[in-house]
Amino acid sequence: MNSAHAVPAFVIRRGTPADAAPLAEFGARTFRETFAADNTVEDMAKHLASAWSPSLQEAELRDPLLDTLLAVDSGGALAGFAQLRAAHAPACVPTRKPIELKRFYVDRPWQGRGLARELMAEVERVARRNGARELWLGVWERNQRAQAFYRKCGFEKVGTQIFVVGDDPQTDHVMLRSL
Ligand SMILES: CC(C)(COP(=O)(O)OP(=O)(O)OC[C@H]1O[C@@H](n2cnc3c(N)ncnc32)[C@H](O)[C@@H]1OP(=O)(O)O)[C@@H](O)C(=O)NCCC(=O)NCCS
Repeated sequence: MNSAHAVPAFVIRRGTPADAAPLAEFGARTFRETFAADNTVEDMAKHLASAWSPSLQEAELRDPLLDTLLAVDSGGALAGFAQLRAAHAPACVPTRKPIELKRFYVDRPWQGRGLARELMAEVERVARRNGARELWLGVWERNQRAQAFYRKCGFEKVGTQIFVVGDDPQTDHVMLRSL
């Protein structure tokens, strides 16, 4: 998909196993940039080691239950990515055909520039194509910017769930929107 946005342009495409190494680097870096200030060094290190490595992302990119969408800039570098997962939803998501927006990350230089909106539009198209009627996600209670963005996209808080970072059980808001 070509972006309607100004220079430099980006495209959104499906991830393939060949994207595993740059995706692992990008995911770990963005997670660190976003959350390091609010977590201990130990919890961050433990979480990063458990969630990001070329082999982990390669397995995700081969997983038929996961859809990975990459936003790639004109130089071929990752500018953002999203992952949809056909997963069991928590009880506060009382719907028949939900799909989880498992991860949604935009690189700092691209934040506030419309890329996130376009990536979300593509997420919605893929979710609908997969037969989903609702989209849900978990977002840390302290991640105000992401919550504001999701509200702009029509999500509403429907409950909470625990997400463990390292050894720290954190409270996520569960947010939901219809498709
Ligand atoms: C969350 C994310 C995808 C949103 O994309 P974005 O391009 O930053 O989103 P936008 O700028 O369009 O919207 C963010 C909104 O947050 C609000 N906002 C901006 N800065 C903020 C801040 N420091 N604190 C609280 N709210 C803030 C504004 O209302 C803004 O909307 P507006 O400018 O239209 O008023 C992106 O910031 C990101 O990837 N962050 C790092 C990773 C992350 O947190 N991912 C989500 C994990 S659940």
